Amino acid sequence: MTILLTGAAGFIGMHVAELLLARGERVVGIDNLNSYYDPALKQARLKNLEGRNGFTFEALEIADTDAVMGLTARYPDIDRVVHLAAQAGVRYSIEHPGDYVRSNLVGHSNMLEFVRGLMGRPGGCKSFVYASSSSVYGANKEMPFSTEQKTDSPVSFYGATKKANELLSYSYAHLYRVPSIGLRFFTVYGPWGRPDMSPWLFTSAILEGRPIKVFNNGDMMRDFTYIADIAAGVVGALDTPPSGVGEGEGEGDTCPHKVYNIGNNKPVKLLDYIRVIEEACGTKAIMDMQPMQAGDVYATYANIDPASEDFGYAPSTPIEEGIPAFVDWYRKYHGV
Ligand SMILES: NC(=O)c1ccc[n+]([C@@H]2O[C@H](COP(=O)([O-])OP(=O)(O)OC[C@H]3O[C@@H](n4cnc5c(N)ncnc54)[C@H](O)[C@@H]3O)[C@@H](O)[C@H]2O)c1
Repeated sequence: MTILLTGAAGFIGMHVAELLLARGERVVGIDNLNSYYDPALKQARLKNLEGRNGFTFEALEIADTDAVMGLTARYPDIDRVVHLAAQAGVRYSIEHPGDYVRSNLVGHSNMLEFVRGLMGRPGGCKSFVYASSSSVYGANKEMPFSTEQKTDSPVSFYGATKKANELLSYSYAHLYRVPSIGLRFFTVYGPWGRPDMSPWLFTSAILEGRPIKVFNNGDMMRDFTYIADIAAGVVGALDTPPSGVGEGEGEGDTCPHKVYNIGNNKPVKLLDYIRVIEEACGTKAIMDMQPMQAGDVYATYANIDPASEDFGYAPSTPIEEGIPAFVDWYRKYHGV
């Protein structure tokens, strides 16, 4: 099979590409290599993939409709799509909503048009997997978060665009029978991670003796999910497209669209997680206690039973293993 992978130079994208290539798939990676964070890290991730059997990369903007639709002519054998390219980040979305409209709404709609185009070709589109987020749960209080819960009150613009992705994808699955899965990721971390996320921010500050900002005075919980577990979940979902029979909402609905939580099902207290980073760094953190941030939520905690039942999703990495793996990688990457 040939998989179009958007966001291939991104954190999750690079790991998903590695996993697919390791089992002999052909991967066409696209990414616009934007400067939301240091593009050198994206280039380094690509370097890690380039030269591997089956990997092709193109710098491409998913909000550019012609560029996206032109991919079919160059890669006529694409029959599956993993769509991870998006403007990420909850806090950044408060100040820069336009970036989210372009990448997450226009870009996502273009990817739906792309898969609709594939459906009209002989090979069709056998599986479309896209990234949603735990942010769609907004300020839901009932834990663990289940995909059965209502998610129509996002508390960040980012969360709202991810919820919109789910709705737009449902409509295409309904109208054109695209076998689609949306994955709600829960705070992903690990080697090659993102510089805007707390494992990186905390590790760099602790190693350099700078204070770390601890929001809500440390009274928060996160369902941190290790990258290898996430990548396995993405590939498991890709291999298990919904048939549509007996699926969707309501009797007789045969819409081949499903949404799953891809978390760890073991939320960790923020202060415990900081302690594990301190141990991995071998230094104490200087904590700068801050109030809750706009758009942020108190806790995330995933019910992952449906993903376990449908495609054997079984996250197995505790932070006591995953954080030292991240810190080791961080030291090597920066030569510290
Ligand atoms: N990392 C997490 O904890 C997490 C949690 C929930 C959801 N997600 C979602 O998972 C997906 C991957 O996240 P990530 O952590 O790997 O982020 P990332 O920023 O590292 O990767 C996204 C990649 O998409 C590319 N991109 C962004 N806009 C683009 C555009 N318009 N055209 C082409 N390429 C574009 C970026 O250059 C980047 O390389 C995203 O959709 C994100 O919203 C991530």
